[in-house]
Amino acid sequence: MNRAAIFSAAIAISAFAAGTAIAQHATSAKISDEAARGRYLVQIAGCNDCHTRGYAQSAGKVDESLWLTGDDLGWHGPWGTTYASNLRLAVKGMTADQFMKRARSEFRPPMPWFNLRDMKDKDVKAIFAYLKHLGPAGKPAPAYIPPDKKPQGPYVQFPAPPK
Ligand code: HEC
Repeated sequence: MNRAAIFSAAIAISAFAAGTAIAQHATSAKISDEAARGRYLVQIAGCNDCHTRGYAQSAGKVDESLWLTGDDLGWHGPWGTTYASNLRLAVKGMTADQFMKRARSEFRPPMPWFNLRDMKDKDVKAIFAYLKHLGPAGKPAPAYIPPDKKPQGPYVQFPAPPK
């Protein structure tokens, strides 16, 4: 290849790269304002920290396509062992009102349900819109294990709560 050919090949490659960047932007541009706000809330309210496998351990370096698909890391304490649910499957077939009710329920530790309870309705709805935008993916998290049984897989051991 002569210089001119190398140069035009380089242009072709960068044009291709620019094309893919535009295509990616077009996909993310399809998100509604409400869902985009939900995405932001999920990030700052820490939902991914538990509900996305490896998110906290990798400082958030998990592909968005895997966000909120739950985790098989157990949270073991006096309440038994809980697993952060696959929220994308949990909202499958749910209406915004049903999610609102669900989000305002009490859950076992370490789910910070009291934080979600104090969230404004429009913010909970935005999170729902984002979950719907992501769509169903992954498999359900392992089922809850009562306190008298040891979990099989990896788990985090919690101390008893302070008296
Ligand atoms: C410290 C870890 C942790 C964080 C942070 C967290 N969750 Fe959870 N979440 C859990 C666990 C564990 C469960 C399962 C609780 C149970 O089994 O009772 C759960 C359950 C839920 C459920 C019930 C799902 C179902 O199956 O019906 C919802 C909804 C939920 N979380 C939403 C959220 C949202 C929204 C956020 C961010 C604002 C969030 N969670 C942050 C750990 C967490």
